[in-house]
Amino acid sequence: HRKYRPFAPIRKTDRRWPDQIIDRAPRWCSVDLRDGNQALIEPMNVVQKRRMFELLVKLGFKEIEVGFPAASQPDFDFVRSLITDNLIPDDVTIQVLTQARDELIARTFESLRGARRAIVHLYNSTSTVQREQVFGLDREGIRAIAVKGAHTVARLASERPETQWVFQYSPESFTGTELDYAVEVCDAVTAVWQPTPDNKVIINLPATVEMSTPNVFADQIEWVCDHIARRDSIIISLHTHNDRGCGVAAAELGVMAGADRIEGTLLGNGERTGNMDIVTMALNLYSQGVDPQLDLANMDEIVECVKACTQLPVHPRHPYAGELVFTAFSGSHQDAIRKCLARRQSDASWDVAYLPIDPEDLGRDYQAVIRINSQSGKGGVAYVLEREYGIQMPRWLQIEFSARVQQATEASATELNGEQIWHIFNETYLRPA
Ligand code: KIV
Ligand code: ZN
Repeated sequence: HRKYRPFAPIRKTDRRWPDQIIDRAPRWCSVDLRDGNQALIEPMNVVQKRRMFELLVKLGFKEIEVGFPAASQPDFDFVRSLITDNLIPDDVTIQVLTQARDELIARTFESLRGARRAIVHLYNSTSTVQREQVFGLDREGIRAIAVKGAHTVARLASERPETQWVFQYSPESFTGTELDYAVEVCDAVTAVWQPTPDNKVIINLPATVEMSTPNVFADQIEWVCDHIARRDSIIISLHTHNDRGCGVAAAELGVMAGADRIEGTLLGNGERTGNMDIVTMALNLYSQGVDPQLDLANMDEIVECVKACTQLPVHPRHPYAGELVFTAFSGSHQDAIRKCLARRQSDASWDVAYLPIDPEDLGRDYQAVIRINSQSGKGGVAYVLEREYGIQMPRWLQIEFSARVQQATEASATELNGEQIWHIFNETYLRPA
């Protein structure tokens, strides 16, 4: 497989709304090993976690949430093993999640003993439903939990100056929280942590449950960006889930609205309907000429690893990753693709009908693009014979022969491969019975 080629510039004519494009990749944080893992029927074992971690590093993730060590002994042990076995590259920072409870925070810091650099991700729930029905606390009470947690994090970090600490706070269930109150709690936390432009904290705004259309979520993010204190000392991070099927769209609009960082998982595993899929968002950027800052050039390796580690299938039509997504079945699509590919100059930017990006950029092959079934037309049949057997048919023969192929596919109700098409061609024209 090969590295990405230079990116095609976004066409001038597409720049009708220049403030409504994303012109560079956000900072990514993978939560595969935490949110993704906690949503699995069978949580990953150590071998699977290491395999996933190694893949994430290889793809270029610089921030990786590796677990919830105070909540589970396997997570604790995994964090310890990453540190003691020296598995964390210098340019990668691990992140761990903790609830805002003193004993859990203490255990979290314990898991990080000896880490070179780490993000401590503190959270508590702030939504009306959680306040009223789960915690039975008012606004004050919930804010106090966050502030107390922030103090404990700051104190324990100051006791371990050998580690470079980064602090992150999530008002969990942000999408069910009044905006002014969410900002009030975040401001109270950052007042404890006292970030500066050179030493920023991360404020992560989760769509714990996706509750609105993506534009509404983006408006909420914009409002927070405009009203939060110390904006120049804060990295605004988003953590969207996919309950309405719009996790990627919400993250994209959220970035347009001012967010700097995105948390998500490979191919979207995560609680309920999943976390937002970083692969899809990264390749959406790529298709617009923006370097995603992740190396997704070996898609088959990613799919294999995700399947092996999560024990979940990948849908054949999953954006960019599914095995059928660069395959055209209909004749008119095949014909258009064939014409575009034939005219294409190798160094030109990608501009091929029906294919949003060049499958080769993901280590996929054109060979799989054209498949022949009962919906295929003359273009597809001609393409396969030319590509695989060097046979160039005049137009009249394409029409005649594709009708013959269509009869065969209708009779067998399956798709035909190149060899079978060649066989029909041979029987019909070269060695008729
Ligand atoms: O979805 C969520 O709210 C979370 C938080 C703990 C960030 O996973
Ligand atoms: Zn989550």
